[in-house]
Amino acid sequence: MENKKNVLLINGPNLNLLGLREPNIYGKNNLSDLIEKLKKKAKKLNISLSHIQSNAEYLLIEKIHLSKKNNIDYIIINPAAFTHTSIAIRDALIAVSIPFIEVHISNIYNREDFRSHSWFSDISNGVISGLGIYGYYCALKTISKRL
Ligand code: DQA
Repeated sequence: MENKKNVLLINGPNLNLLGLREPNIYGKNNLSDLIEKLKKKAKKLNISLSHIQSNAEYLLIEKIHLSKKNNIDYIIINPAAFTHTSIAIRDALIAVSIPFIEVHISNIYNREDFRSHSWFSDISNGVISGLGIYGYYCALKTISKRL
């Protein structure tokens, strides 16, 4: 099919431990299985999905900076704990001006108070929180309709 769109999925710190980390909150699926399934889903939607997970803020920022050069049309980001701290990642997203959907596996609004504030939501093109890993599929589907 022509006109394949490029979507970058960004997962922040500790999400490499998906499946092991607090499974009562984040579920039992591991990250590599999730990415494999999301890539299959993306293919069906005529989307080329690339992925980065990093525990290092600067690597995520550099990947965002490269997004223009890499012709990324849309970003899905779960900034994990950086959600609540990183003005630097926020600024990077503003700098490249690529639309993005913010995803959280858990519902950040019914947990500790500090999780209720996100540095991303007000500049995002949508927020999904509390749908488990299904949130990533919803973001992908939404993007396929928007692009
Ligand atoms: C998270 C929620 C954050 O508060 C937390 O720091 C994470 C994951 C989520 O997906 O629910 O690491 O972004």
